[in-house]
Amino acid sequence: MKGIFITFEGIDGCGKSTQCELLKDYLKDNGKDFIFVREPGGTEIGERIREILLDKKNSRMTARTELLLFEAARAQITDEVIKPALEEGKIVLCDRFFDSSSAYQGMARGMGMDFVAGLNMAATGGLKPDVTFFFDISAEEALARRGKRGEASDRIELAGLKFQEDVRKGYLELAKDSDGRIVTIDATLGIDEIFKVVKESLEGKI
Ligand SMILES: Nc1ncnc2c1ncn2[C@@H]1O[C@H](COP(=O)(O)OP(=O)(O)O)[C@@H](O)[C@H]1O
Ligand SMILES: [Mg+2]
Repeated sequence: MKGIFITFEGIDGCGKSTQCELLKDYLKDNGKDFIFVREPGGTEIGERIREILLDKKNSRMTARTELLLFEAARAQITDEVIKPALEEGKIVLCDRFFDSSSAYQGMARGMGMDFVAGLNMAATGGLKPDVTFFFDISAEEALARRGKRGEASDRIELAGLKFQEDVRKGYLELAKDSDGRIVTIDATLGIDEIFKVVKESLEGKI
């Protein structure tokens, strides 16, 4: 692949969207060819799967169904959008990718990180991000931030603090075993300080 694939991870409210926006502006200002996508979604089929996943009416959804829907959306965006863009040499920014499934479904929903890793592989055909930023923050602090944002919580956000802490544990475990792919950043730092670390981590790569 000629391009570079960058993903953003962490619990809700950790600052992913904020840092994505800053990096998008930075890439624009520097005349870089990039695309930005989000998971789940980013394709017509994926956006419809996203609606099912986030719909509060779907309280009967089982953990396995949830996982497979995420993987289905991922397979679609990988083949339809991400791989073609990387083949054209573009920078691809993705708000969440397979580490989210490992942390949310593998760890927090208790389905097993190894089990999910196998499905991640199936969905992506082995495509891995070149760099993954994990913005690390406690569930309480992230909740306080989301409260300020004033948005209604979706089905997954409603799962509670304990769940979010388990997700965080999952991310920390992934980071430990990632051979440097996952860059863990203290998300309680200031927005500009965090972005400085993001830029430094990408030096020589973009
Ligand atoms: N480093 C930071 N320090 C303080 N507040 C932040 C920081 N990063 C983001 N925020 C604020 O926290 C809230 C959640 O950030 P957001 O980027 O939407 O998180 P996410 O996309 O991970 O859910 C927003 O109101 C945002 O302005
Ligand atoms: Mg966001």
